[in-house]
Amino acid sequence: MKVVLTGMRTTGKLHLGHKVGALDQWVQAQNTGEYECYFLLADNQALTTHADNPALLQQSVRDVVLDWLSVGLDPSLPHVHFVQQSQVYERHELSILFGMVAKYAEVMRDPTLKTELERQEDASIGFMYYPVDQIADIQMVDPMVPGAKLLVPVGKDQLPHLELAREVVRRFNFMYGQVFTECEGLVGKVGTLVGTDGDAKMSKSMGNTINLSDSLEDAFRAIDKMPIDPARAVRGGNKVPGDPDKAVAIIYHRALNPNEDEVAEIERLYRLAQIGDSEIKARLKEVMRDLLTPIQERRAHFMQTANIHDIVYEGTQAARRACIPVVEAMREHMHLTFPS
Ligand code: TRP
Repeated sequence: MKVVLTGMRTTGKLHLGHKVGALDQWVQAQNTGEYECYFLLADNQALTTHADNPALLQQSVRDVVLDWLSVGLDPSLPHVHFVQQSQVYERHELSILFGMVAKYAEVMRDPTLKTELERQEDASIGFMYYPVDQIADIQMVDPMVPGAKLLVPVGKDQLPHLELAREVVRRFNFMYGQVFTECEGLVGKVGTLVGTDGDAKMSKSMGNTINLSDSLEDAFRAIDKMPIDPARAVRGGNKVPGDPDKAVAIIYHRALNPNEDEVAEIERLYRLAQIGDSEIKARLKEVMRDLLTPIQERRAHFMQTANIHDIVYEGTQAARRACIPVVEAMREHMHLTFPS
């Protein structure tokens, strides 16, 4: 039994960072046909930062579904399920029970949570609990059979959460008897995509994104504004040798351009001051056109034809069916039963 479970918070439209950092691996896993795939619309977890704007989250469920469809995730396949987290009622019980097994100190050591807490003013209890809650997400579709595989394709920042999940599951199995499968992470070749401004990470709060649903014109404008090696940002700068690591457009070529020879050639010429930044950007626009056009065609198609309610309803029911035996096993192993 091989299962994929992964998810995204529903806090708005998705961008290219989501695509190269995660969605490409999801589509690949789906297309192998080897895995039962559960893709989680984490609307509960979205409340960890957006509790003041529930209407946005509700709209975001629709937006994220359209973005997922537009990159080629296909819930019309019998092994692919789009799952709305808040509607899997059985999952919430798993979450509470994992909270009894996870240690406060080990959760607070989670490096991703630590960094996020530093940035998050006035964090809720739900926010600091989310790495534990996420264990429930992962294990709710656990096949619970020897030799099972539970694969979690995610962005690099999520790996500490998976490490925590494995530790807590191991402890549970040791304390109460074997129930759960330890999950495995899978990170793509581009762990994180830098922002269009060269900032370490593409993120909505930084305003440095190219969204999957942006027009080509908007994407091109973002490319025009990408910082170049400052050494070349002077008159006649194209005659100055450049450092490819300081040219955002080259970093994007590395992440997005399927023609690796062309990328290597661009880098070589940049170092030799034999290619202009505008030429590099013009070529990036071609790459962007090839990348975004099919996504946008699919998006337009699904906007007309997809029944988003039914897709999410069906997928959620599939997750609930998988979760019921899991929550029953967990209860039983923890002796949470009526007195006999
Ligand atoms: N925390 C993930 C994110 O921020 C979303 C998520 C929720 C998730 N539950 C998950 C990812 C379970 C992997 C597995 O994008």
